[in-house]
Order: sequence, then structure tokens, then C-alpha cells
Amino acid sequence: MDYFALLVDFATPAYDQTVGLRNKILKIPLNVEFDLEEIQNEYKDFHLACYDENAQLIACLVLTPLTDKIIKMRQVAVDVDFQKQGVGAYLVEISEAIASKKGFTKMELNARDTVIPFYQKLKYKKIGKQFTEVGIKHFKMYKKLVQG
Ligand SMILES: CC(C)(COP(=O)(O)OP(=O)(O)OC[C@H]1O[C@@H](n2cnc3c(N)ncnc32)[C@H](O)[C@@H]1OP(=O)(O)O)[C@@H](O)C(=O)NCCC(=O)NCCS
Repeated sequence: MDYFALLVDFATPAYDQTVGLRNKILKIPLNVEFDLEEIQNEYKDFHLACYDENAQLIACLVLTPLTDKIIKMRQVAVDVDFQKQGVGAYLVEISEAIASKKGFTKMELNARDTVIPFYQKLKYKKIGKQFTEVGIKHFKMYKKLVQG
């Protein structure tokens, strides 16, 4: 399968599609909803979308700058039929390259405990104590970005 990633602009149809995919993969299974404030604050984030060869959206994630050096990866979602085929790893690696090019030196994220092995394979390290968010156990993880 061929796929490619693009940064999409906030409040465009492409962005709206990513919100739909995040809702399907991350929110609905937990019976939680987006709140308006969460979406309104995303104008300052970077939105990365991944498409297959038919230009169908298959995955997305959000990058939120925390400081001028630290950026947070959030809402990593791969559509059900496309999971475990390398798409998530591809998207994370692309987002690291984008963040590094923009001058960020550290990527942070809050990982659900079930997907910690996914991030560990991508060289993320756990830091701090386990915590609970949306009823799920999480660990904070981070990775120093190679400057390119
Ligand atoms: C978690 C998720 C982003 C991973 O993306 P993916 O495209 O399915 O994963 P990849 O195919 O790129 O996997 C890369 C490697 O991580 C492993 N991996 C992926 N998900 C895993 C999991 N849940 N547990 C253990 N290993 C996992 C893969 O087996 C693969 O290993 P390999 O390199 O040895 O073959 C995706 O499955 C997903 O969207 N899941 C539902 C939503 C979710 O949990 N998001 C993360 C919230 S923190």
C-alpha cells in the first residue's frame, strides 16, 4: 500500500476530516466527545494527515507546541483497516522530522498503556508515574529529536 502525509490547515475540510477520524478512533470507543474549547484551541497546532493512494484519509495526529523547544504529539489515530501496517510509525517519524525542522528539540506525548510498546519501538522513553486520563492508564513519554 502506498501512502503519503501532508500538513493540513485548521478549519478546512481536510482538517474536519481528521477530526472525524479522531472521533471515530479515539473518542467514540471511550464514549467521550470533543468539547468546543478543545477544537477552538487547535488553531495554533500542526495537523498531520496521512492518505492512501486513493487520497482516502487513513491516519492523522496533532502536534502542539508547548515551548519554543518542546512539542507534544497528540491524538494519534490510524483508521481500523489500516492499523498494524506501518502507517502509525510512518506518521510519527514524519512528525518528528517536521518538528525538528521547525527547531523543536524534544517530542512529548501521553501514551495509553496499551500502546506503550508502539512508542518504545520508535525510541520513546517513559517518564514519571502512571496517571489516569479519560479513564485509561497513561504514561508520559518523550524523545529527543535529532536536529536536521
Ligand atoms: C496505536 C496506533 C497509532 C499504532 O499505529 P499502527 O499503524 O497500527 O502501528 P504500526 O503498524 O506503525 O506499528 C509499528 C510497530 O509497533 C507495533 N505496535 C503497533 N501497535 C501496537 C500495540 N497496540 N501494542 C504493541 N505493539 C504495537 C507494531 O506491531 C509494529 O511493530 P514491528 O515494527 O515490530 O512490526 C494505531 O494502532 C491506532 O490508531 N490505535 C488506536 C488509537 C490509539 O490507541 N492511539 C494512540 C493513543 S496514545
